[in-house]
Amino acid sequence: MSDKGLAVFHDLESEVRSYSRAFPTVFQKASGSWLIDETGRRYLDFFSGAGALNYGHNNPALREKLIAYLTDDGITHGLDMATAAKREFLARFASVILEPRGLRYKVQFTGPTGTNAVEAALKLARKVTRRTNVLFFHNAYHGMTLGSLAVTGNASKRQGAGVPLAHATPIPFDSGDAADDSLDYLDRLLGNPSSGVDRPAAVIVETVQAEGGVNVARFSWLQRLAELLRRHGVLLIVDDIQAGCGRTGTFFSFEPAGIQPDLVCLSKSIGGYGLPMALVLIRPELDVWRPGEHNGTFRGNNLAFVTGAAALDYWRDDTLTQEVLRKSALATARLQAIAARIPEAQPQVRGRGLILGLELAPAGLANRITAAAFRRGLVIETAGPSDEVIKLLPPLVLSDAELKLGLDLLEESVVEQAAVAAPAELVGAGVAS
Ligand SMILES: Cc1ncc(COP(=O)(O)O)c(C=O)c1O
Repeated sequence: MSDKGLAVFHDLESEVRSYSRAFPTVFQKASGSWLIDETGRRYLDFFSGAGALNYGHNNPALREKLIAYLTDDGITHGLDMATAAKREFLARFASVILEPRGLRYKVQFTGPTGTNAVEAALKLARKVTRRTNVLFFHNAYHGMTLGSLAVTGNASKRQGAGVPLAHATPIPFDSGDAADDSLDYLDRLLGNPSSGVDRPAAVIVETVQAEGGVNVARFSWLQRLAELLRRHGVLLIVDDIQAGCGRTGTFFSFEPAGIQPDLVCLSKSIGGYGLPMALVLIRPELDVWRPGEHNGTFRGNNLAFVTGAAALDYWRDDTLTQEVLRKSALATARLQAIAARIPEAQPQVRGRGLILGLELAPAGLANRITAAAFRRGLVIETAGPSDEVIKLLPPLVLSDAELKLGLDLLEESVVEQAAVAAPAELVGAGVAS
């Protein structure tokens, strides 16, 4: 790490930059589960491009296909023209993902960011139902453009909009408690024409709220949500942008709940190689778009079609699913052991598959731990309304040795920073006298 190396970012790049502040070095190369900076220092990646690198950096099987495609003068840009690369992706997506799961969806390629897929899903739900309101959950994160921000909870992100965020109503997410009555409330709200909440077009949900602090919805809660929305004639949009593509073990995060959403948003790892791509899966009866009604120059990134199609090879059997679940059990047990070492921080461990969270009560502690982890060579970030959750998001394909090393580095950082936690903070969090 050299100051000289970072000077131009400080001088020229907008103040809006964030990850270069959290991880202050100049990265140059990456391979598998590792990022390498320009001084040659290696960092173990427990962040995976916020979920865009589920199959690791520069995955050789995907790279081989990409290089061959480029060398052969394959189409790189084509708006939403029919291309051979898109045909291959669509055919494989149908045969490897949709058909074995008994799912029937049309595929809409939107602009290549997650938020663009969310915007398209919201627009389509409103167009189909001719209603404007959409319900979303406390602590939801769906992206930074205005429609997506309107269904996002975080106050500072919402403030950045600079205009009122309208046509959306927040409702409580699954608390995980046996006595949780959030869906009774929703049922009453939808059933009462005098509830004061405009009849919604849709409810948008993350099965695991990622940026919101790794909040996991129970399968029973998701099943009841789907059932009551069907009963009330309201569409269900699952935003699987971060929790999908195998992050929770299965390809779609909602599979174990046995629900079939009306619309599904995918992005991040759907392109397979960290290449931008986003799409919306649409129940065929709902595909009422007129041609070009939602368009964009970069719909359909052909390079991402190539690597995305190659990545689907991971889903031809359940090997990756079993591996993710096995590593998840190892990591969860280890996180619980780490938590047991710092009871005064009121730790909570939660997550599904390889999206795992360690929540710590004292203000600022989680951020100090991730900064300490970075100094030790581990890239990992925080999530949650007050950045109180350390979020583990390693590549799904990391080795057991890498998983253990990352957890070792995290444990050292946790123990070190919990020991130096300022007494005032602990008192503030109500965890010390
Ligand atoms: C669940 C979810 N939805 C939408 C988005 C927005 O995706 P993008 O940043 O590509 O616009 C994110 C990004 O973190 C996300 O986690």
